[in-house]
Amino acid sequence: MSLQGEKTRALFTRAKQVIPHGVNSNFRYWGDEDTMIIARGEGAYIWDMDGKRYIDYRLGFGPVILGHAYPPVLEKVREALQGGNIFAWTTPFEISVAERITRMCNTDKVRLTNTGTEATMHALRIARAYTGREKFIKFEGQYHGMADYFMFSTASSHRGGLGSIRSPIPLANTSGIPKGINQYVFTVAFNDLEGLENRVRANWGDLAAIIVEPMLGNAASVMPQPGFLEKIRQLCDEYGIVMIFDEVKTGFRVARGGAQELFGIRADLATYAKAMGNGFPIAAIAGKEDVMMTIEPGSMAHGGTYTGNIVGAAAADITLDILENQPILETIQQRGKALMNGIAEILTEAGIPHALTGVPSMFGICLGTDEVPKDFRGYLAGDAELYEQIGMGLSRRGVQPDSDGREPWFLCYSLSEADVGETLNIFNDAVKEAKGG
Ligand SMILES: Cc1ncc(COP(=O)(O)O)c(C=O)c1O
Repeated sequence: MSLQGEKTRALFTRAKQVIPHGVNSNFRYWGDEDTMIIARGEGAYIWDMDGKRYIDYRLGFGPVILGHAYPPVLEKVREALQGGNIFAWTTPFEISVAERITRMCNTDKVRLTNTGTEATMHALRIARAYTGREKFIKFEGQYHGMADYFMFSTASSHRGGLGSIRSPIPLANTSGIPKGINQYVFTVAFNDLEGLENRVRANWGDLAAIIVEPMLGNAASVMPQPGFLEKIRQLCDEYGIVMIFDEVKTGFRVARGGAQELFGIRADLATYAKAMGNGFPIAAIAGKEDVMMTIEPGSMAHGGTYTGNIVGAAAADITLDILENQPILETIQQRGKALMNGIAEILTEAGIPHALTGVPSMFGICLGTDEVPKDFRGYLAGDAELYEQIGMGLSRRGVQPDSDGREPWFLCYSLSEADVGETLNIFNDAVKEAKGG
């Protein structure tokens, strides 16, 4: 049964006439039968064009940490907009946001951007300028945005193309990237201490940066094993390499100070987006004084027409204020734990081998294996088809995680205990259906 009701289908048909595949991001395309069009969102729910309500666990791919249309955020943005939106000068909102980030994330300096892609792209440029080197290491299954340099061996890759784990191949995930670009990137399996160490020792003279999502936020929230992030820190210190934490998904979600706080590691640069503005387009690069001060008018570029614009900056100012001062993350943690426990119980009862990964505010479910995956290859060994079957069964019943198990379940503060209960009942039904009973 298609997810599209009559009105959604009619609008999607219109969309396809003028927008390639009817979507403005390829990740939103679920096929011609199941790609949805959304009328509105409020709290933990979204409604499609036919008035069907979904408990939303995608939350715009992660950013909606408080809830859709969260009144204090809307109010602040509305009020701020009364005074105009963009001036080609700094505004007090930008200063306040930067102060909040330095305080919450224990860092020195901040520059704002609009999207995660812009943040990672500029972070890599800063690292290159700081070190005078050009290459970098990224980990398999990690996604750092749409810039050409990063689109290798991402979460969209297939196991067959990644090469031997002893000698991984950077696999381009899209046509359109110039061939020469792959000479700048080395890929290593996540949690592979030996592979990482060998690569760094062989190539450190060329390495500007090691960029890492501290947990696999685009591959079921697979966690770092003890010592892995510490090893990156140690190698970066030893060889003068810039350590970049890509916290676009984990920032202000897994802890007030993001993954740096959760794992007790201080990176040289960190990139933030998503949760920092509850879904408004705002992002940041934050880092240590000496690395960030590589940015220099006239010689080391960072900028953009819309960086720090009032809409994004005001949204971030109020969202970070709320996250810093109210027990938002504690509540999400509690609800997420109950949800994870309930899901595990249902899967056990159904006799489906499973492993839950990640943290309660963004967790993954790996099916077909009891073994907790330690890297992207491990995740790909699971039963993605069964996951998708259950995921689509959930959507048909009004609970919507991504149908692709690589995308974690995201929770927001507006999700109630009753929503968790409803989700578990529906999860039980979807599992039964997938098992043919
Ligand atoms: C870890 C990570 N980095 C960067 C990005 C890119 O962010 P944006 O989509 O805002 O450009 C994403 C997007 O999902 C992400 O998950």
